[in-house]
Amino acid sequence: MTFPRQRIAILISGRGSNMMSLVEAARAAEYPAEVVAVIANRPDAAGIPWAAARGIATAIVDHTAYTGRAPFEAALDAALAKIRPDFVCLAGFMRVLTADFVGRWEGRLINIHPSLLPSFKGLHTHQQALAAGVRIAGCTVHFVVPEMDAGPIIAQAAVPVIPGDTADSLAARILLAEHKLYPHALGLVATGHISMQDGQAVVARGPAGLTLASVDNTGQLYAPPLDNPT
Ligand code: GRF
Repeated sequence: MTFPRQRIAILISGRGSNMMSLVEAARAAEYPAEVVAVIANRPDAAGIPWAAARGIATAIVDHTAYTGRAPFEAALDAALAKIRPDFVCLAGFMRVLTADFVGRWEGRLINIHPSLLPSFKGLHTHQQALAAGVRIAGCTVHFVVPEMDAGPIIAQAAVPVIPGDTADSLAARILLAEHKLYPHALGLVATGHISMQDGQAVVARGPAGLTLASVDNTGQLYAPPLDNPT
C-alpha cells in the first residue's frame, strides 16, 4: 500500500537522541513520514544544531520568555501553524502541556516514556523501576492525553533489568530500545494502522501480525512486532 508521507514536527528539550532516531528512520524512501521541523523550548537544546545541519527547519520557543503556559503554548501553536504537521512527536520534551493544547492535537500528539506504562510515570523513571525491583523494564510510545504519561498505548518494548544495574545503566539499555520503538510506533500511526478512537489506541482490522510481538538481536521484545506492515 502506498501512503502519502505524513508531516512530523518533533518537540525536544535536550540532547534529542529520539528525535535523531526518527529523522534517521525518515530518510528511508519507504518510511511513511517526513520530519518537517524540530522545535525546542530551550535555546541550548543540543538536538537543534544537529537537525539544522541536516536541512530540517528548526525553531526555539523559549518557555522562560513567556509569562505562563498559555502564552508559551500560543507561541508553540504559531510555530506549528507555519509548518502544518500531521503529527507532533514529543521526544524528551520537558514541559507539561495544558489540556487545551493536548485537546487541539488529540490523536496526533505522541510521546515516548522510558517505562512500561502504566508503571513508573513521571520523572526518575529508572530509579522507580529499580526501587520496585522489577525484572523487566522497558519503554512505551503513547498518544498524549492531558494526564501525564496516561494516554493510550501504541507500542511497547520490554527490556531486562540486570543485577547490579544503576539508573544510568538501565537508562542506556532502554534508550537503545527507544530508538527502535519510536520510529516503529510512528510508522504504525502514520500509516493509519493504529489510531486513537474514543480514548483508545485501536489497531486497524487487517495485518494479523500486529497482534504478535518480535524479539530483536539484543533480546528485547517489541509489541507490535518490529516489521511494520505496509
Ligand atoms: C528519553 O528517555 C525519553 O524516553 C524521555 O526523555 C529521554 C529523552 O532523551 N521522555 P533524548 O533527548 O531523546 O535523547
